[in-house]
Amino acid sequence: MTTGDNVHVLPQTDQLRAIHTIIRDKHCAREDFVFYSRRVIRLLLEAGLDLLPFTKKEVTTPVGATYQGLAFTSKICAVPVIRAGEAMESELRDLHPGMRIGKILIQRDKRTKLPRLYYQHLPADIAERHVLLLEPMLATAGSALAAIDVLRDAGVPEDHIIMINFISSPEGLRRVTTERPAVRIVTSSVEERLNEHAFMIPGIGDFGDRFFGTTDSGAAK
Ligand code: PRP
Repeated sequence: MTTGDNVHVLPQTDQLRAIHTIIRDKHCAREDFVFYSRRVIRLLLEAGLDLLPFTKKEVTTPVGATYQGLAFTSKICAVPVIRAGEAMESELRDLHPGMRIGKILIQRDKRTKLPRLYYQHLPADIAERHVLLLEPMLATAGSALAAIDVLRDAGVPEDHIIMINFISSPEGLRRVTTERPAVRIVTSSVEERLNEHAFMIPGIGDFGDRFFGTTDSGAAK
């Protein structure tokens, strides 16, 4: 698919493809899955942090010269969509130890694939913050849109939301960019398609199950 300005796909380097090759393999050991997916998560988070606003800042260097630099905005927070999004939270904590973290618990009904919101707890001033929405899988986009609506209901402007996806379906990207056009999305891969069971093809299986070790097999759900 042609991705618009608000969809940021990581550069498809040979290294990234080699990592994807390891973690997409259904025989990938869990420790390898965790290790290599964390490397991709780190790249995704760095790309997402690049999209935040910066303000001008000058500093004096040790040789007495002036460096015309930039300062990070402090008005940010992260919101993982439990459960799979929590795989990204620990990586973000390494990059930004003091970042405020909200939580949204959304689970898809195993049969209908429709999302259900179970729980939310967000920073009180979230409406004034830029939000990194941590949601590894974008399949039908039902869960992502439900999470975006929770943030909008809390007063977060759509253009303050940066969604971090591990892999995304063309159908899911189309839905989010059509229905919530100001939301920005960072992803490491745009998949070929969704199959009739709403699984991404070629896909990666159930990210949460593989990352947290709650299944014996990495086979696609
Ligand atoms: C997975 C994934 C996303 C959602 C994506 O969650 O983590 O939240 O499916 O699918 P969608 O775009 O079709 O909504 P799941 O409900 O399987 O729970 P998990 O986070 O515990 O794996």
